[in-house]
Amino acid sequence: MPQTVLITGTGRPIGLGFNMVRRYLEHGDRVLATVRRPSEALDALRAQYPERLDILTMDLASTESVNAAAAQAAALVPCIDLVINNATTASPDCMKELPDFNPDYIAPAVDVGAVGPLRVIKAFLSLLRRSEGTALIVNISSEAGSIGRCYRTFYLDYGVEKAALNMITKTLHNYFKDDPKINILCLHPGWIRTSEGSEAPLDPYEHAETLRLLFASRQNDKEGPIFITHTGEAYPW
Ligand SMILES: NC(=O)c1ccc[n+]([C@@H]2O[C@H](COP(=O)([O-])OP(=O)(O)OC[C@H]3O[C@@H](n4cnc5c(N)ncnc54)[C@H](OP(=O)(O)O)[C@@H]3O)[C@@H](O)[C@H]2O)c1
Repeated sequence: MPQTVLITGTGRPIGLGFNMVRRYLEHGDRVLATVRRPSEALDALRAQYPERLDILTMDLASTESVNAAAAQAAALVPCIDLVINNATTASPDCMKELPDFNPDYIAPAVDVGAVGPLRVIKAFLSLLRRSEGTALIVNISSEAGSIGRCYRTFYLDYGVEKAALNMITKTLHNYFKDDPKINILCLHPGWIRTSEGSEAPLDPYEHAETLRLLFASRQNDKEGPIFITHTGEAYPW
């Protein structure tokens, strides 16, 4: 049965979000794709799928903007079955170590990458609860958010933001534990070629299908691991 899927951070054709949008559309699903600024590539996709793709403007750093997008979504669709919190950010100091890193970059990164998904979940919860089955929330995290496996001396903003996103995921998993309508997990998606010149092994379009199938397999599974890799295995917190 076709699903209604909300995906954030979908404007970049080379990015994971855009390619997840493509895969769900190709699979016959209805997609609400969010961007913070217009994307020609996404507009072209909408021209191809005018009945099943809607583009919403949403700045994850703004509760008002997220709430406005949720109100817009409620006028477009009766329910949402899957939320993929894909959007993220990193500061210009992401690769710098302590002496050169500006600590003031951490709070804005956490605001977008961790508080942003929480804003989305809160604003879209009533639409998720209207799903006929169990609605799934996927927070796209990273191995960089694992405290147990932390080995880097940089990523002070990105690592903290993803660790915070993991904590939000676990806390909400506790909150929704006995709620048959809502499931939530977070994912280290693997190393994907989402930037020019990247040497990552995973192609974003091919990998988007791997993730689509993984999410389908976990839609109703609330007992499996909560922080997982793209092969579905548990990753250490
Ligand atoms: N690529 C990898 O190897 C890898 C590895 C581990 C984890 N991940 C995770 O996988 C996800 C996708 O990765 P990616 O490489 O495709 O990401 P990306 O290319 O950096 O895309 C991130 C998206 O988030 C959007 N965004 C940034 N700030 C925003 C805001 N304030 N409000 C709304 N949207 C905002 C960006 O919009 P603009 O286009 O407007 O800037 C962009 O479309 C991310 O969560 C990332 O952390 C990726």
